[in-house]
Amino acid sequence: MVSRNLNTALNTQMNKEFYSAYSYLACTSYFQDEELNGFANFFLIQAREELDHGMKIFDYIHRVGGHCILEPISPPKKDFKTVLEPFQTGLDKERELAGEISRLFQIASSEHHAPTQVFLQWFVNEQVEEESLFTHWVKRVQRVLKDSNGILRLDTELLERMPEGGSAPKSSH
Ligand code: FEO
Repeated sequence: MVSRNLNTALNTQMNKEFYSAYSYLACTSYFQDEELNGFANFFLIQAREELDHGMKIFDYIHRVGGHCILEPISPPKKDFKTVLEPFQTGLDKERELAGEISRLFQIASSEHHAPTQVFLQWFVNEQVEEESLFTHWVKRVQRVLKDSNGILRLDTELLERMPEGGSAPKSSH
């Protein structure tokens, strides 16, 4: 059983993960409109990962006898000025999420709720990976920003990105 306080904090995080999925889906749509299908593929995989993160918390809340409240999802940003902007926005978002996961971990620690601390350990590690991934791509995109051939090369490379342990998504045409 979780306390009301911890339940609320988990619930808030779950909604943030679903919002992140929605945001990355908007990035997917932007790149599809630009006919950059590799970039769209990158963000579609990212959106599905965030949905999975939200679902992990959703399932966990139920397993520990809590209640889930699905909040309304605000419209995400979709109009970007450059191909760099979605990556920079993603990096900012991942840094923010990492801070939120840390705060959630602190709440679980202060309540001595070991199951939630163990559960959150996966998210702590995942945030290290996510920040590193976006830092890498922000730098790569910055480097080729003024070279349209470079953008197309990166687009081809990103088309090869596969979900962890799965096959390539189908919906980026
Ligand atoms: Fe759910 Fe990208 O952190």
